[in-house]
Amino acid sequence: MKQKTQTQTKPTMLSSTSLRFSVLLLFLSSLSHSSCSGPSLQESFAQCLFLKSDKSFPFFASIYAQYNSSFSTVLNSSAQNLRYLLPSAPKPKFIFTPTSESHVQAAVICSKKLNIHIRVRSGGHDYEGMSYVSEIEKPFIVIDLAKLRGIMVDIQDNTAWVQAGATIGELYYRISEKSSVHGFPAGLCSSLGVGGHITGGAYGSMMRKYGLGADNVVDAKIVDANGRILDRKAMGEDLFWAIRGGGGGSFGILLWWKIKLVPVPQTVTVFTVTKTLEQGATSLLYRWQQVAPFIDQDLFIRVLIQPIGNKTTGRTISTSYNALFLGDSRRLLQVMTKSFPELGITIKDCLETSWIKSVLYIAGFPNDTPPEVLLQGKPTFKNYFKAKSDFVRDPIPKSGLEGLWKKLLEEENPLMIWNPYGGMMSKFAESDSPFPHRNGTLYKIQYVTLWENKYEDATKHINWIRGLYDYMATYASKSPREAYVNYRDLDLGMNKKNGTRYKEARAWGKRYFKGNFERLVKIKSKVDPENVFRHEQSIPPLAVSKRTKKH
Ligand SMILES: Cc1cc2nc3c(=O)[nH]c(=O)nc-3n(C[C@H](O)[C@H](O)[C@H](O)COP(=O)(O)OP(=O)(O)OC[C@H]3O[C@@H](n4cnc5c(N)ncnc54)[C@H](O)[C@@H]3O)c2cc1C
Ligand SMILES: *[C@@H]1O[C@H](CO)[C@@H](O)[C@H](O)[C@H]1NC(C)=O
Ligand SMILES: *[C@@H]1O[C@H](CO)[C@@H](O)[C@H](O)[C@H]1NC(C)=O
Ligand SMILES: *[C@@H]1O[C@H](CO)[C@@H](O)[C@H](O)[C@H]1NC(C)=O
Ligand SMILES: *[C@@H]1O[C@H](CO)[C@@H](O)[C@H](O)[C@H]1NC(C)=O
Ligand SMILES: *[C@@H]1O[C@H](CO)[C@@H](O)[C@H](O)[C@H]1NC(C)=O
Repeated sequence: MKQKTQTQTKPTMLSSTSLRFSVLLLFLSSLSHSSCSGPSLQESFAQCLFLKSDKSFPFFASIYAQYNSSFSTVLNSSAQNLRYLLPSAPKPKFIFTPTSESHVQAAVICSKKLNIHIRVRSGGHDYEGMSYVSEIEKPFIVIDLAKLRGIMVDIQDNTAWVQAGATIGELYYRISEKSSVHGFPAGLCSSLGVGGHITGGAYGSMMRKYGLGADNVVDAKIVDANGRILDRKAMGEDLFWAIRGGGGGSFGILLWWKIKLVPVPQTVTVFTVTKTLEQGATSLLYRWQQVAPFIDQDLFIRVLIQPIGNKTTGRTISTSYNALFLGDSRRLLQVMTKSFPELGITIKDCLETSWIKSVLYIAGFPNDTPPEVLLQGKPTFKNYFKAKSDFVRDPIPKSGLEGLWKKLLEEENPLMIWNPYGGMMSKFAESDSPFPHRNGTLYKIQYVTLWENKYEDATKHINWIRGLYDYMATYASKSPREAYVNYRDLDLGMNKKNGTRYKEARAWGKRYFKGNFERLVKIKSKVDPENVFRHEQSIPPLAVSKRTKKH
């Protein structure tokens, strides 16, 4: 891994490269679409990259402008939410896919120089498309890190370096390739990009034992607003704190995470048990709220809740208890008999497997899918969706659950996922990292509504989920009503333009970060006072300083 820590650009370079530069200019002018309109934005950008970075690199092969035939393929490649690919969604002027760290540095310097708004994309899973759509500024470009996906696992050192464009599934696979008793506690969905995922927290089925992905980071490398590469030592503890939970796209471009591996047993156990309303789902879920956050830390039992059936068969609510236990089935049954006998699981429900296969199971791949599927590195399903989140601190009474079923049955394709907290999650203080949803949180709810047809009326579904969210206000955390930054929700408020003030941003900032919001603003003001890294919900600096154009 190269470790450049200085901006590498000075006017002296001009003379030494003037010959190549004029050759490039010739080349550029021959490319200009209109001979009298001067270079296009992508031409100016390519020219700047050439000057600021790699003098021998064919940048045009890494810049996808709207007129390039592969533009839409590249834009679509990792975008998860089809809502943000519709023709009505604003499109980037071009997409740049750096193949080295110095390209990322140059991209920051050049976008500042040309005053182009940038969006950064790693895995493209942002719920509101923040990594490839800007609703607030035009023109904008996307820096897509998909080609930067190196992973180096060091079992002796119990760590790994992983590059921003790698997926979490690739990381899991590379760990399992070297050891069957090491793992990493991050997301359940294997196509998440580590760049955006870990910086927003990153929870998964080992969170009750080991905390979040962000809680298990030991070092990082980022490109800051001045185009410098900083590691933990160079960035200092404040910024290192901010990037471990403060959310993507606010503080710089993450290049690498250095993560701490965690021990996993040779044999783990998984199960999924489903109960409908007719099978006593309401009482059972009422009980789950009191048990799941306090049960043995080796056990994570989430609940997937959705309507099933149709007009002919009748519709009901299905609740699926989907679990990972870090141990064998014998011990799991002991834990369940003691703490949660109501679920009634038996040895027949249990599947003993390896940790890496449990990753596939929890991610929803069919049994016997080979782990190599994790190397696919792209989403396995995509749809149109809108999602929201809540944290629950007191059990919802049965009457509340019954009202919730009525709401769910109104919608075609809704899904709720209830995710138990407790265990290690409670052992961190709220201010240990920007992620504040710690002790006292029983579980998190994710609400989703999905549709598959582009002609469908999104407003109908979005209004439905907003209504559901209103209904749940009684039962959710209050003052603030907390939300998970990695489940980005623009209903909570957004920066209207690049100069949004701290006071306006508090509305959503407090929900994602509680008391940590002020500290994030202070750090942002120090490391990116000009607000180079910004989007609809980026952390604002205290006062946006006037951009001084450097020419
Ligand atoms: C199907 C699905 C399943 C999910 N499952 C989980 C889960 O199990 N656990 C969990 O915690 N979350 C989960 N999430 C949420 C997920 O963690 C966030 O959407 C996360 O931000 C995705 O990161 P990304 O790199 O894939 O996304 P991107 O869309 O690429 O980025 C997300 C945000 O981070 C910024 N960003 C991206 N790369 C960088 C970078 N290198 N440096 C700085 N900023 C960057 C972007 O600009 C954007 O603001 C899920 C999301 C989806 C769609
Ligand atoms: C985009 O089109 C230009 C002009 O035709 C071409 O030079 C460039 O190589 C293309 N870029 C890519 C990534 O294909
Ligand atoms: C990209 O996605 C959009 C929206 O779903 C679709 O219209 C377009 O055809 C896709 N492009 C490619 C190349 O698949
Ligand atoms: C309803 O569901 C049943 C069982 O899954 C299926 O056989 C039937 O075709 C469905 N009917 C309609 C109208 O979708
Ligand atoms: C969490 O909070 C509860 C009660 O509010 C307290 O009894 C417990 O000690 C706390 N746990 C930790 C690990 O701080
Ligand atoms: C904010 O946006 C305006 C126009 O969109 C632009 O002129 C200005 O330079 C931007 N300011 C900053 C701080 O980027």
